[in-house]
Amino acid sequence: MKENIFKDYNELSEAVADQVIKQIKNKPDSLITIAGGETPLGTLQILSNRLLNEDIDYSKVTFVSLDEWVSLNESTVGSCRESLNTNLFDSLNLTDEQVVFFDGDAENLTDECKQIDDVINRNDGLDLIILGIGMNGHLGFNEPGIITRKSSIVKLADVTKQVMNKYFDEELKLTHGITLGYEQILASKKIVLMANGARKANIIQIMKDSEISYDVPASILKDSNNFELYIDEEARRLNEKD
Ligand code: PGA
Repeated sequence: MKENIFKDYNELSEAVADQVIKQIKNKPDSLITIAGGETPLGTLQILSNRLLNEDIDYSKVTFVSLDEWVSLNESTVGSCRESLNTNLFDSLNLTDEQVVFFDGDAENLTDECKQIDDVINRNDGLDLIILGIGMNGHLGFNEPGIITRKSSIVKLADVTKQVMNKYFDEELKLTHGITLGYEQILASKKIVLMANGARKANIIQIMKDSEISYDVPASILKDSNNFELYIDEEARRLNEKD
């Protein structure tokens, strides 16, 4: 596992945005997944500026969903799709085909899973995935102890339910998520896990120390040679003794 450490959140966000731009330049028809949540917000804003202002052809890129809260879609402020729409997709004027996203409010969630699985299979896997890490180490909504392969509907862990209201204006009682599975994440040709801030230092340390185990979902990434960790100084603070 290669570890990249940055002075602060801004430098971290710029470095991850660089990776996305590099990917698009190298392979204009890339399939790219970027997590929702707070961690990638800086990256999304930098990306949106750079893609609009530099001479980069992103017309063939497809953005694929990582996850969504079951019962929500882009009409709820704070949903994964809404966050990506607001911070990236809307400004880029993408075609409908360029965004393939789980609709967590769809009647048939199995069809939502199949739609995403088909797109990923047709491309022979994602080219790049940018992940955040949950306070319990979850990846997407792959919660500790749950083993998924492809896109799946999963029960949210208690800690995820406790922290989720930071995303929403009103209190929601959500119980499930829809997420890419481990097989799809691990098959990505490049995997970036980003984390910032002191509150993530503990779980980053646990991930690094842990055996590869579904009990610490992010530890599973250590199995992949395509995996790189991108963190800021605050998220590595517990590691100073290393
Ligand atoms: P965050 O969420 O980026 O909002 O901290 C990360 C996650 O739960 O995967």
